[in-house]
Amino acid sequence: MIQSAFRVLYFGYAMNTLLITGGAGFIGSNFVRYLLSVEPGVRIVNLDALTYAGNLANLTDLPAPDRHVFIRGNVCDDSLVRRLLREYDIDTIVHFAAETHVDRSIYGPSQFIQTNIVGTFTLLEAVKQFWVDEKAFSLADVRFHHISTDEVYGSLGPEDPPFSETTPYAPNSPYAASKASSDHLVRAYGHTYGLPVSISNCSNNYGPHQYPEKLIPLVILNALGGQLLPIYGDGKQIRDWLFVEDHCEAIWKVLAAGIPGETYNIGGSTQPSNIEIVEIVCSILDERFPDSAYVPHKSLIRSVVDRPGHDRRYAIDHTKISRELGWRPRESLDSGLQKTVDWYLANTEWVATILDDPSLEAWIDKHYSRDRDIQ
Ligand code: NAD
Ligand code: DAU
Repeated sequence: MIQSAFRVLYFGYAMNTLLITGGAGFIGSNFVRYLLSVEPGVRIVNLDALTYAGNLANLTDLPAPDRHVFIRGNVCDDSLVRRLLREYDIDTIVHFAAETHVDRSIYGPSQFIQTNIVGTFTLLEAVKQFWVDEKAFSLADVRFHHISTDEVYGSLGPEDPPFSETTPYAPNSPYAASKASSDHLVRAYGHTYGLPVSISNCSNNYGPHQYPEKLIPLVILNALGGQLLPIYGDGKQIRDWLFVEDHCEAIWKVLAAGIPGETYNIGGSTQPSNIEIVEIVCSILDERFPDSAYVPHKSLIRSVVDRPGHDRRYAIDHTKISRELGWRPRESLDSGLQKTVDWYLANTEWVATILDDPSLEAWIDKHYSRDRDIQ
């Protein structure tokens, strides 16, 4: 790798100005922060529609704010995307923007089809025109990196080997199907038009700035407030948990040294059941607040009606990215969860703003009260 103040060269690929989509969300904002700190030469254009999951408060205290431009806009807005590519001379796309909550996709899949499939198609078309048809850059100097999920592979039985890059796709939820569809589009644009694409399929992330509709932040905030902790079904479902900064480092390594046309699986190799991970979070809170009226916090756990079509087990085999790009997770589940709990405890203003947002309350009422009795 050769670095100068304005240019970063990796094996012939020059990364100057990135369009990061969904960079006001959980992983996207962590990635913006990470990239600005490890890459002194790059500029970032951050395109985000600021849906309920997007939050400008995720982008305060960036390490180099002068190298970051925020644009509020939709990835389905073809003319906006085309204008940004030209105006900022974009040579790298990192595409995070998506509807991401499986439960919401079960109630209302339509927005998932729009953003996750049509949005990805819109970006691909615009980029193909700019990079391939108009030859704005040499194709050796550009990259479209698509952020995807392990959910495209479906559900594992207890004895099945973990998902590898060659595991056949078998998405089960509307969310997973929309992500699978977008992966296929990205791959097809690489195969047919020669667009330099790469895809990473990652397992469940947790860490700072995650919106509290997802299991870990929901449990932290509910437990702190003495509210019940809803566990779907028997709670023995298994996820492969990864601290978000480890995911960010993996994406950076794929951009820096990954081979165009390739897919990389990313995961934490930590596979507790849901009930186990909730109990770990509860025990961290017991240690932080030994005098709380809610100790032991695990007494707040309640079984609720299961998620329809709930995938039983995910596990990732990350041998490829470890062997080829030298990546492995730095955080253990214990250290990552300690950091996560402490972040939510320290960032009271961020938490208060989100908890005051009527859209979160509406979601909780609809999802947990209408057909789930958690008493
Ligand atoms: P998130 O829900 O926290 O954030 C999504 C962001 O995308 C928000 O800022 C939102 O405003 C923005 N967005 C949504 N629709 C948009 C649109 N039409 N145009 C522009 N911006 C839009 O999501 P996340 O958890 O950070 O996930 C980011 C990506 O990583 C997604 O593609 C997701 O599928 C993938 N992923 C997530 C996980 C996980 O555990 N969270 C794991 C693997 C992969
Ligand atoms: O595997 C990667 C995926 O991880 C990402 O692609 C998704 O965007 C992300 O949301 C996440 O999906 P999950 O459905 O696995 O995450 P969630 O936090 O919603 O749920 C984790 C597990 O906990 C899952 O088995 C459902 C269960 N759960 C979740 C909630 C919100 C509960 O038992 N109770 C709850 O209240």
